[in-house]
Amino acid sequence: MVNIAILGYGTVGSGVVEVIQTNYDSIQKKAGQGICIKYILDLRDFPNDPMQEKIVHDYDIILNDKEINIIVEVMGGLDPAYRFVKAALEQGKSVVTSNKELVAKYGSELIALAKAKNSNFLFEASVGGGIPIIRPLNQSLTADEICEIIGILNGTTNYILTKMKQDGSEFADALKEAQELGFAERDPSADIEGYDACRKIAILSSLAYGGQVDYEDIYTEGISQITRNDIWFTQKFGYEIKLLASSKKIDGKIYVSVAPALITEKNPLYSVFGVFNGIFVKGNVLGDVMFYGSGAGKLPTASAVVSDIVDEIKHLHTNIMTSWASKKIELGEISESKKKFFVRIEGKIKDRLEEIERIFGIVNAIEIEEIENEFAFITPILTEKEFIQKKERLSGICNRIRVESE
Ligand code: HSE
Repeated sequence: MVNIAILGYGTVGSGVVEVIQTNYDSIQKKAGQGICIKYILDLRDFPNDPMQEKIVHDYDIILNDKEINIIVEVMGGLDPAYRFVKAALEQGKSVVTSNKELVAKYGSELIALAKAKNSNFLFEASVGGGIPIIRPLNQSLTADEICEIIGILNGTTNYILTKMKQDGSEFADALKEAQELGFAERDPSADIEGYDACRKIAILSSLAYGGQVDYEDIYTEGISQITRNDIWFTQKFGYEIKLLASSKKIDGKIYVSVAPALITEKNPLYSVFGVFNGIFVKGNVLGDVMFYGSGAGKLPTASAVVSDIVDEIKHLHTNIMTSWASKKIELGEISESKKKFFVRIEGKIKDRLEEIERIFGIVNAIEIEEIENEFAFITPILTEKEFIQKKERLSGICNRIRVESE
């Protein structure tokens, strides 16, 4: 029997308890021994909860208990999560976490600490909710050099974009639903402004390229500027709007960004709707591989956490090598990357096309009957820098979105 402690009895923490209880027998078979939840750390009490007797408020009780081999950190945030996790690893305990902020910021340090102590720091649930992506990158796709990862990595924003398109929902109503369903972060700006996806692509890039990709260096743009008019025009062009987290190795340089992008039905991420996440990975010998599944929510995230607990039980006191060194990877400038751009602009095509084509060259422009005094066009391929220069010469631009190449 392996004793574990869970730090945080919120959405994910209670999900971990539920998964262990629901699938206790099959998990025990796969792990080779049973799991005993000895403690749950939380500031609150849960008087009517069957787990109340496990609740403790003092972390030292857990830290000083030699019977505890595995600590499951599902509190989120950096403080006190970082202090608690570091202290646990220093004691030789293994840690499983779903905390993407913690992993993105301190991943390489905590991995090195676990290695020094012959324990493990495991974080499958930090990216993609229930989708296995960390273990495949670290243990399965090891024959390949990864040259590209493109993902829909945030369930909340994908849910909002889907609801706006399919039901004509307002942005705020769709967000409220995502919050009620337990997908959104405590501060939903982390989802909407792309910070959550940014941390996740930083984690995947660090693992894929074996060094430290700092999330502060990643160009990040969210979906708060996307309106229903953008959705209508882009639909008419045959595109879906997705918040794409992208990481590409081009001529030895690594380019990482998070931003809304337009994709056509030829793109494998086109049909990823609702809270689902999709992660497309390209390896230099394997070619393309795609991961798809529930990207957020209590039980999918808890499922990934429990899969790490099982992995840890199978590797107690044996370090699972993780290739993520502390050496910083300098990222390429996205201003040099080339793309087409969708532009939504005030006016009528007949009045403005000549002016636009003088600046951009031939564009593909459309109007929609229901939208008065606005139209949209797609530019030829330009660098980001060229687009910004040209855009400044035009008045009345309502929005612009990058078009992802096929
Ligand atoms: N807020 C996150 C999302 C939760 O919506 O994807 C899962 O990390």
